[in-house]
Amino acid sequence: MQNMWIIFMILGIIVLCLLLLLIVALRYQRDYWRYLGIPHERPKKLWPIMKQLVTQSLSTDAMKSAHYTAIYNKFKGSGPFCGFYALLQPRALILDRELIRQIMVKDFWNFNDRGIYCNQKTDPLSGDLYGLRGNSWKEMRQKLDPSFERDRMAWLYGSLYEEAEQLLLVVSTTLMKQQHTTLHIQKLMRRYVIAALASCVFGLNAEHRKKYPLEKFEEMTELVLSTRKHGYLLNLIMIRFPNFCRRLRLRLTPKEAEVYFLTLLEDIVAQREASGVRCQDYLQLLLDIKALELTTHEYEADKELNAHLQHELAAHAFVFLKAGYEQTANTLSYALYELAVNTEVQSQVRQELKEVMAKHNNNLSYECIQSLTLMGHVINETLRMHPITPYIQRRVLENYAVPDHLKYTLVKELFLIIPTHAIHNDPEYYPEPERFNPDRWGSPRDSLQVQSTWFGFGAGARNCIGLQFAQLQLRLALSLLILEFEFTLNSKRPLVNIDDGIALQLTPLGVVEPGLEERAL
Ligand code: HEM
Ligand SMILES: *[C@@H]1O[C@H](CO)[C@@H](O)[C@H](O)[C@H]1NC(C)=O
Ligand SMILES: *[C@@H]1O[C@H](CO)[C@@H](O)[C@H](O)[C@H]1NC(C)=O
Repeated sequence: MQNMWIIFMILGIIVLCLLLLLIVALRYQRDYWRYLGIPHERPKKLWPIMKQLVTQSLSTDAMKSAHYTAIYNKFKGSGPFCGFYALLQPRALILDRELIRQIMVKDFWNFNDRGIYCNQKTDPLSGDLYGLRGNSWKEMRQKLDPSFERDRMAWLYGSLYEEAEQLLLVVSTTLMKQQHTTLHIQKLMRRYVIAALASCVFGLNAEHRKKYPLEKFEEMTELVLSTRKHGYLLNLIMIRFPNFCRRLRLRLTPKEAEVYFLTLLEDIVAQREASGVRCQDYLQLLLDIKALELTTHEYEADKELNAHLQHELAAHAFVFLKAGYEQTANTLSYALYELAVNTEVQSQVRQELKEVMAKHNNNLSYECIQSLTLMGHVINETLRMHPITPYIQRRVLENYAVPDHLKYTLVKELFLIIPTHAIHNDPEYYPEPERFNPDRWGSPRDSLQVQSTWFGFGAGARNCIGLQFAQLQLRLALSLLILEFEFTLNSKRPLVNIDDGIALQLTPLGVVEPGLEERAL
């Protein structure tokens, strides 16, 4: 009996000690920035953190962006960066332009990790350019870069043009069918972008679409983009302990979607390889990369290698959907919204279009699209006000002493936030930031300033690889729509959030593009 008591006592003391230790560790973690003497946003109390973990309430990108903007405005000028906490994890928010340049450009090698989970082996679609880091990222980027260069775009122009015309047709017929002239443009833009990606990247032509309808393609894409398969806690663990999770073979992509995209691509690739016809699209470029690798690998394991390369090809194709679909569609919607609010800019864009087209036989050719100056400014200004990636995340690879600031060290594995949205709206860099003013971009700005105050497509070696492709998609759709319709706002309600949908009023201008009428009939 007495022995039992002693055992209970000892157990009790051990539990107490462990609890004490945990509390001390948590306190230490919570005081990380205070001990270092770096200005910081205090962490939340333990209780709300517990509640958040238990209820698994997730903050959206917009909420996070607003939070980062508040921190930026509070601490700007206090030093090169400030501290804050994601739940209990200390993170750094970069305040200083020069440090941003060091991270993204100059000392990029030490910051080339986004710190997101991927598992190339068991989840092939997650092993893409966006998620990889270090050497595997570098190799993949070097392989892909040539296919994304500007002169490649002329090659794709034909198929992209067809999709943009299709968009115009859908808009016209939708308007004709309904009684009023108000359209929810977002859905239409998403449909255009997904159709363009399906045909330019996956080679999904009209024939294939009988077997693989666009609706299903869209549904599967949405499934992957919206999946948070594992809930909040497990996702946190995946980011904190990626190697451990990889050993457990944890995956992110829903199996159904993986099977769908792998089968679809295998099908189309097999058809192509059998017919030997070269098509003018990205799939062809990806196939060329695959063929090149097959010839440069010497060992015999043909089947395995082929499967590996086929998976890699699928990941390359899929990254267009993951990193390009919502980004392009939403930017397009925002641009139309801003043009509808700023009608005088809209007329200038239309005027420029007509003038440039007049020089090109009234033909909206590739050269014509590329030479639109004001259009470029409109896109830059849209992305300034509505950056699709409202903050950029990096993870430190090795300890980094910030040059010229004694106290400030970015320690290994620390997460960094570059608050794009806050910087794009900082009146010091952009006077009257709430005004949509494409003329800001007209005069040359000194290149140092430009490099670290605008991240519409990121900056440095890990910038957006799809920049040229996205630009072409945006310019083409905007040009065709602006030539045909006048866009106005149908309510005075300011745009708060793209999730609420954007309704615009369309007035046909009666300048029907040659050839379109016959096809519409
Ligand atoms: C208007 C449309 C788009 C916008 C605003 C946009 C924006 C961005 C930004 C800001 C980044 C950098 C993120 C960071 O530094 O962490 C990025 C990276 C990336 N984007 Fe885009 N993007 C767009 C369209 C596309 C398209 C169409 C593709 C198709 C391939 C694409 C593929 C990528 C990839 C693969 C990366 C990662 C590159 C790397 O890590 O090497 N994006 N994008
Ligand atoms: C427009 O230009 C393209 C080349 O960019 C050419 O293939 C096409 O035939 C031209 N169309 C007309 C109507 O001139
Ligand atoms: C858009 O901004 C980037 C970065 O500042 C700049 O390099 C580019 O020239 C701008 N585009 C136009 C059309 O002004």
